[in-house]
Amino acid sequence: MRLVKRRFLKLLLLSVVLCSLWMLRASRPKMSWNPSYIMGYSWLEYTNDDGGPEKVCNCSAILRGETGALEQAKLLTITKDFKKSVQIPDEYYVNATQDCSQFKISRKYLPYPLSQEEEDFPLAYSMVVHHKNFERLLRAIYSPQNIYCVHVDKISDISVFSAIMGITSCFPNVFMVSKSVSVVYAAWPRVQADLNCMADLYNASTTWKYFINLCGQDFPLKTNLEIVRMLRSLRGGNSLESEQIGGGKKWRVTNAYQIVDGQIQASGKVKDPPPFNLPIMSGNAYIAVSRGYVCSVLEDNRIQALIEWAKDTYSPDEFLWATIQRIPGVPGSTWPNSKYDMTDINAITRLVKWAWHEGSQGSLEAVYPECHGNHVRSICVYGAGDLQWLLKQHHLFANKFDTRHRSHSLSTAWRST
Ligand SMILES: *[C@@H]1O[C@H](CO)[C@@H](O)[C@H](O)[C@H]1NC(C)=O
Ligand SMILES: *[C@@H]1O[C@H](CO)[C@@H](O)[C@H](O)[C@H]1NC(C)=O
Ligand SMILES: *[C@@H]1O[C@H](CO)[C@@H](O)[C@H](O)[C@H]1NC(C)=O
Repeated sequence: MRLVKRRFLKLLLLSVVLCSLWMLRASRPKMSWNPSYIMGYSWLEYTNDDGGPEKVCNCSAILRGETGALEQAKLLTITKDFKKSVQIPDEYYVNATQDCSQFKISRKYLPYPLSQEEEDFPLAYSMVVHHKNFERLLRAIYSPQNIYCVHVDKISDISVFSAIMGITSCFPNVFMVSKSVSVVYAAWPRVQADLNCMADLYNASTTWKYFINLCGQDFPLKTNLEIVRMLRSLRGGNSLESEQIGGGKKWRVTNAYQIVDGQIQASGKVKDPPPFNLPIMSGNAYIAVSRGYVCSVLEDNRIQALIEWAKDTYSPDEFLWATIQRIPGVPGSTWPNSKYDMTDINAITRLVKWAWHEGSQGSLEAVYPECHGNHVRSICVYGAGDLQWLLKQHHLFANKFDTRHRSHSLSTAWRST
């Protein structure tokens, strides 16, 4: 397991834009692969000979938060060569995935489950992405017993589509969603993308135990085994933010909205109350839920009515899952009484650093320490200096990681007030 852990930490470091040399190497894989490697685990490991980040950064020092190492990493990330090297061109994927076995070896995809425990607890992932950089995320969470549905925005570039199609074609357990939509910021299609993947995943396999949805700027903080153990410890429960809706957010569900020219707009109409007077809860777009919860979403008449009702609300992804989590009878749900409310910090699904909750160490008002990267839409895009803190948290995934340091509104739906 040490190997897995090391492999994993290296992938994490990579995603925080540290590993220029490594990426350069990874994007031009060595062709001389010795078949005897597959006999052991060793070929999966990233060694110094792989051009790993250790040559330019001291990863263990970064994980301990040592100032010198952090400064060195920061300097590296602003160099031109580095910025160039972290971008793997679409054409690379289109070409490399023509030889799938070579592609999987060169990108070090796990060829078998790493333990019986993981094999017995398959996971289903919905990945709503709009950039081929999703491959960085996929290989970090990939395990052959899991199943992955990829939703690529309908209006993505054809080259991004080709790259992602190439990648999914190499794996029997990674597939493109059967129906893709154009995601509009804060509007219904973001939910529809996940719903389409949910239906496909539910239909594609009867064995998976939990569903997790991701966007392209997420990255795991835990190994697959750790994720499996944390989900098993929920004993059938779901983990997601679900709280009483504050007065400041009620307008989102009392007024009707529509999409005009790819943007959400108030239609001027007032909405009817929710079906069955279901109490609307506040939450976020990212969830870890049992197979039973997904079955309810697809089949429970109350939820079908709620879904229809929610289609013209503002930012439905930030209340729909949270509301379903409090409907009595839904597997893994909790009673709607406020005593059962769960915050995003207590849920294990996603760690996000909001600018207005950051503060200096020791500040009682602060929810977490200050961001060491930069902010996009008030959310921290992590830097190397955040890693030490990130790895101490219980969340399965963190958002945002971005090697491009630009705003990517479509696949992220974090818009709290
Ligand atoms: C990396 O940092 C660790 C912890 O400070 C230190 O023990 C180690 O010697 C460093 N390695 C290199 C190659 O500088
Ligand atoms: C295409 O991929 C093959 C291996 O699958 C490699 O040998 C070749 O150099 C690649 N061509 C380009 C133009 O990248
Ligand atoms: C499930 O998949 C089968 C084919 O594998 C298809 O015929 C059927 O319509 C699908 N059902 C749903 C609900 O998508």
